[in-house]
Amino acid sequence: MTTPLGVALIGAGGIGDVRAEAVSQTPEIKLVSVVDLDKARAENVASRFGGEASTDSMAAVQRADVQIVIVSTPPNHHADITVAALEAGKHVICEKPLAHTLAEAERMCAAADKSSVFLKTGFNHRYFPAMQYARKLIDSGKIGEVVTVQAYAGHPGGKEFGHDWIHDGTVTGGGSLVDNGIHILDLTRFFFGDVDTAMGYRANLVWKFEDAEDNGFALFKSTDGKIAQVHASWTQWRGYKFWVETFGTRGYVRASYPPMLVEWGETPEPGIRSRKHYEFFPSFQVQERLKGWRWTIIQSFIHEVSDFVAGIHAGKQVAPTGRDGLRTMQMAHAIYRSSSEGVEVKV
Ligand SMILES: NC(=O)c1ccc[n+]([C@@H]2O[C@H](COP(=O)([O-])OP(=O)(O)OC[C@H]3O[C@@H](n4cnc5c(N)ncnc54)[C@H](O)[C@@H]3O)[C@@H](O)[C@H]2O)c1
Repeated sequence: MTTPLGVALIGAGGIGDVRAEAVSQTPEIKLVSVVDLDKARAENVASRFGGEASTDSMAAVQRADVQIVIVSTPPNHHADITVAALEAGKHVICEKPLAHTLAEAERMCAAADKSSVFLKTGFNHRYFPAMQYARKLIDSGKIGEVVTVQAYAGHPGGKEFGHDWIHDGTVTGGGSLVDNGIHILDLTRFFFGDVDTAMGYRANLVWKFEDAEDNGFALFKSTDGKIAQVHASWTQWRGYKFWVETFGTRGYVRASYPPMLVEWGETPEPGIRSRKHYEFFPSFQVQERLKGWRWTIIQSFIHEVSDFVAGIHAGKQVAPTGRDGLRTMQMAHAIYRSSSEGVEVKV
């Protein structure tokens, strides 16, 4: 077994805490540095999951014992820390959305391109077993050629999901579409491929945060005419939910969470109703019931970072990359443009 790679975690808040626990459960890596502007938070996380606590991210990314930097600060701090880490020769996993502006996300991707290290966007939803199962099913050819995708992500917005900054467009770059919606924009590309044009609307009828929509609706078209429909919501009063439904020429697959579930069907020929199949992921259902949703998120982070480390050892960049993160932001911003101008726009 090779020596574990050293990790610096920058941002020890809600998601940083979960990421630190995931690092502590991943044998290929080891937490050596935990940074937060709030020293007590850094100390709390370091005392439970390892590493030295500090408040100085620029010093942490220079440490000789750090090979990977995980950035889990609010989005408006992602770019400076990520670029400094890449320039110091460290591999980076940066939380979603990649940045709060397109220019900052482009700066991060340019720094990654110039470096010999890798930048990965923290789209951990790709690593949920339902999403991996659906991807394999599509790859097997069981549903034929993909023709449409419908994706949804919702949570109740407001206090339950509230750090105040989440509703501040100057910190995040938008609203629901760049918050929970950014995961399904990524999953749309995961199942569908890249998009070419977009039309959409943003609405703000409930929370009325400035520059941060509580609902975003989008239609995307690929160059070969496939269409995807995406709805991101902060008015999902039943709690956190997301699903992606992919239709092919000979079947469909619907992957959702929670609960972790896949429903799929294949038809012998177009027009004939398909037989339904289900995958329930029973061990996930049991573990989540016993240990709560945090357990599920930790599994996705472990899978994500293990994939990244395997890529590092093989000299191979694994998707979703920094550029995948930038592309999802371009999709969200295309919807903002389309909504304000009332026209179809190029993504
Ligand atoms: N992958 C997911 O599903 C998921 C879920 C929730 C949040 N996120 C993302 O994770 C990131 C963090 O979100 P959160 O919910 O943990 O927020 P949070 O507010 O709970 O934590 C952010 C922490 O970063 C610290 N911080 C801010 N600027 C810093 C800096 N320059 N240097 C060091 N520390 C700094 C803050 O003090 C705070 O403790 C965001 O980008 C968010 O979009 C991802």
